[in-house]
Amino acid sequence: MLEQQPENLQLYVNWLAIEALQKSEPSAWFEVLYAKALGDAAQIPWAKLAPHPYLQDWLTNHEAFTSQQKALVIGCGLGDDAEILAHQGFEVTAFDISPTAIAWCQQRFPDSSVKYVVADLLAIPLQWHQAFDFVFECRNIQALPLNVRSSVISSVASVVALGGTLLLITHIRETEFEPNGPPWPLSNSELEQFESLGLYQVGKLVFSESKQIDVKQVRIEYQKYIISK
Ligand SMILES: C[S@@+](CC[C@H](N)C(=O)[O-])C[C@H]1O[C@@H](n2cnc3c(N)ncnc32)[C@H](O)[C@@H]1O
Repeated sequence: MLEQQPENLQLYVNWLAIEALQKSEPSAWFEVLYAKALGDAAQIPWAKLAPHPYLQDWLTNHEAFTSQQKALVIGCGLGDDAEILAHQGFEVTAFDISPTAIAWCQQRFPDSSVKYVVADLLAIPLQWHQAFDFVFECRNIQALPLNVRSSVISSVASVVALGGTLLLITHIRETEFEPNGPPWPLSNSELEQFESLGLYQVGKLVFSESKQIDVKQVRIEYQKYIISK
């Protein structure tokens, strides 16, 4: 693949996503993108080779976790968020639909304690049901179109243990109208689905990046009720 410049890269990503949507395979294009990058992280638009700053900020402002607590990183990409959680003492599982991304994580962090696995958020292994004390979901729901949104949100909620924490980072939109994507930011009613699935909000922070001041993002901390609702 010719080296993609940022603006060309965005066009290429949109083209891959549209092609995948036309085939009703909304997650299929991620593997193509990772594989064609040939190990060059500059070809992966979301890869910063560092933990998300708002995950880091959340961790520094929360008390230390008991070691051996189980964490799950959804759509882990190149693994930086999973690694910081492992350094905090969590027993971390991190998954992505892309085998190339998972192999890339294993190559970047050969001595890691993180269990990196290929898995599909829309077909979560049964043993992950309510199995994780801490779940990190960052910018994956928004990467999938609205026709699978309800299933994706249900899957994310399903892996949080009773009494466990879900930390969500996502772009948000002001209206319920379908946006052009990717990404497809989350609406208020979509966010409310988490609360109908036994989670309640503990904290919420709205932020935007300096380069895209008009694009709103949120970090929401949810906790799951201890008694199954
Ligand atoms: C926009 S990227 C975000 C990556 C990372 N969470 C971050 O914030 O940098 C979306 C990630 O979700 C993964 N993904 C897409 N569909 C998925 C699915 N059905 N199951 C698991 N991972 C998926 C992609 O391969 C990609 O790594």
